[in-house]
Amino acid sequence: MDLAELNKVANAMVAPGKGVLAADESAGTCKKRFDAIGVESTEENRRDYRELLFRSKGMANISGVILFDETIRQKAKDGTPLAKIIEQAGSLPGIKVDKGTKPLPFYPGEVITEGLDGLRERLVEHRGRGAKFCKWRTVIDIGPGIPSYYCIKANAGALARYAALCQDENLVPIVEPEVLMDGDHDTDRCYQVTELALKALFHELYLARVKLEGMVLKPNMVVPGKKSAKQASVDEVAEKTLRVLKECVPAAVPGIAFLSGGQSDLDATARLNAMNRLGDAPWKITFSYSRALQAAPQKAWSGKAENVAAAQAAFTHRAAMNGLASMGKWTPELEKKAA
Ligand code: 13P
Repeated sequence: MDLAELNKVANAMVAPGKGVLAADESAGTCKKRFDAIGVESTEENRRDYRELLFRSKGMANISGVILFDETIRQKAKDGTPLAKIIEQAGSLPGIKVDKGTKPLPFYPGEVITEGLDGLRERLVEHRGRGAKFCKWRTVIDIGPGIPSYYCIKANAGALARYAALCQDENLVPIVEPEVLMDGDHDTDRCYQVTELALKALFHELYLARVKLEGMVLKPNMVVPGKKSAKQASVDEVAEKTLRVLKECVPAAVPGIAFLSGGQSDLDATARLNAMNRLGDAPWKITFSYSRALQAAPQKAWSGKAENVAAAQAAFTHRAAMNGLASMGKWTPELEKKAA
C-alpha cells in the first residue's frame, strides 16, 4: 500500500470547488431513471447519456466519476474508452464494486450489501482499466423497530473489509453508510441512527486497520424522512449534520462527500453550502451526488440527440452550483441568474 498516493487521490477527490459525480447507477436503477423520461434503457442509450455528461463543461467542477461495471468497459462513439474521456477532462475515474443489497436473514425489512467474494481480483482488473477509487454502499432504513444493531454492525463490517482490500490494492475507498430518508421519522431520529451507524463504522474501520488518511466518507445528511410532517430548515440540517459528523468522524479523514439521497436539487446544494459557511470542520466537505446532479440533465436530454447541448448546460449548471457550495460561496441569486 502506498499511503502517500492514496492520500493524494483522496485529497484530489475533495478539492475545493469540486466534488464527485455518482454515475454508477446499476442497470435496474438506470432503467427506472430512463423510464421516467421515456427512454429505453439500452446499452447504447446508457453509453450516449453518460458520454454527454463526461464531455460537458461541467466536468470542470467534477473531481471524480463513479462508474458502473458496464460503463468502465464502454467506449465512446469515437472509440475512446469512457474512463479515458474522464481523465482527459482532468477528473479521476472510479468504480462501484459492491453487488447491491439482499434481504438480511431473520431481520425483516433490513438489507445487507454483498460483493466481498472475489473482490480483490475485481479491484486489480478495475485498476487496470484506470480506476483510482472505489465505492461500496450500505443501506440502513429507519422504520418501526428498525434498524437493528446487528444490521448496522454487519454492514459496517463489510464496509471495513472492502475498504481494507481497496487500500491494499492502492485504490481509495469511498465508504458509504447510507441512512435512508424514506420514512416518516423526524430529524432527531435520523441524527440518532446516523450517529450509531458512524460510530459502528469507525470502530470496524479501526479493527480492519484501514488508514483514515486514504479514504473518503460518503454519508447522508441529517434530514427528516420524506413522509415526516416536520420538515427541517436549511440551517437545522446543516447544523445537525455537522454536529453528528464532528462527534463521529476523526479529523484524519481527508474529506466527506455527501450523497443526495432524494433531496431536491436546491436542498442538496443549499444544505451543502450552509455546512461550508459554518466552517471550522476538520475535513473538506463536498458532494458525491447522483440524483441532485443528474435529474436536470436527464429531463433536458429525454433521449434526443438534438437535446444534448441543453442537457450538458443543465449538468454544467448543477456542477457549478455544487462546486460553489463546496466552498460556501453559493447563493440562491446565482440560481436565478442562470435560470
Ligand atoms: P444520490 O445522490 O442519488 O443519493 O446517489 C448517490 C449515490 O451514489 C448513492 O450510492
